[in-house]
Amino acid sequence: MTMRLEGKVALITGGASGIGEATARLFLCHGAKVIIADIQDNLGHSLCQNLNSSDNNISYVHCDVTNDNDVQNAVNAAVSRHGKLDILFSNAGTVGRVSPSITAFDNADLKRVFEVNVFGAFYAAKHAAKVMIPEKRGSIVLTSSVASVTHAVSPHAYTASKHAVVGLMKNLCVELGNHGIRVNCVSPYAVATPLMTRGTRMKKEMVEKVYSEAGNLKGVVLKEEDLAEAALFLASDESKYVSGVNLVVDGGYSVTNVSVKEAVRKFSGKPKL
Ligand SMILES: NC(=O)c1ccc[n+]([C@@H]2O[C@H](COP(=O)([O-])OP(=O)(O)OC[C@H]3O[C@@H](n4cnc5c(N)ncnc54)[C@H](O)[C@@H]3O)[C@@H](O)[C@H]2O)c1
Repeated sequence: MTMRLEGKVALITGGASGIGEATARLFLCHGAKVIIADIQDNLGHSLCQNLNSSDNNISYVHCDVTNDNDVQNAVNAAVSRHGKLDILFSNAGTVGRVSPSITAFDNADLKRVFEVNVFGAFYAAKHAAKVMIPEKRGSIVLTSSVASVTHAVSPHAYTASKHAVVGLMKNLCVELGNHGIRVNCVSPYAVATPLMTRGTRMKKEMVEKVYSEAGNLKGVVLKEEDLAEAALFLASDESKYVSGVNLVVDGGYSVTNVSVKEAVRKFSGKPKL
């Protein structure tokens, strides 16, 4: 296997679970030194214990991304443990609460969702940029969502926060391009991670069944590993001239519109399209 991240150092926020965990595993396989930053300490430590070889290529740091000092500390940990930071995967996220209507909206929930998804991405990019700018290279990947490009039945605060992440990515792409640093987003459709099973109150198998049925691309189920592959592409030198891209991994879901089909089905009794 070609080692696509040989010699690189990567920090992954939200790396103890789901997409972040799968990405940590894949980056490690490709020769990167990985630091996982998360609030789930037990999960993070045991993941590192399971994956580590004698050269300590993967390690954990407690980091609440809503806390600027914690994020600075995580970036410092990467530099002190491995001498540099080449890749930031800012991936920690939360869905927040589902509210039936904007009229019943919970302001505290809105604040929390923005603190994790948006402030967290700002802090991570800020501290990563501080160490990447002097080196004149680096790759920053922010996790947004398919909700940044189409309606995806997610809560208002979540959708707004993921649009904000894409906006941040575009601005950073312009500023940091001057310093040789690339900035992109990866935007998943539905993956049956703990975030999704909690948010939908469905079991993993049911999430996969429902969202595959609703999806555009038939015969495949979107998995954490598919997002890890997208993050690997954006992190590696194979994408050395790719910046400012929102890489939507949705099997074409965001370019479909099933409402005409549904209306035809409703009034004629059978699907015509
Ligand atoms: N699963 C999906 O269907 C889906 C779809 C679109 C976007 N996303 C995004 O993918 C990213 C990863 O989510 P996932 O699906 O792997 O869920 P997950 O719950 O498995 O992982 C999210 C991780 O983020 C961590 N986290 C949450 N708040 C944090 C904080 N304040 N500080 C540090 N870490 C924190 C959690 O502890 C967890 O380990 C999120 O940004 C999410 O919004 C997921």
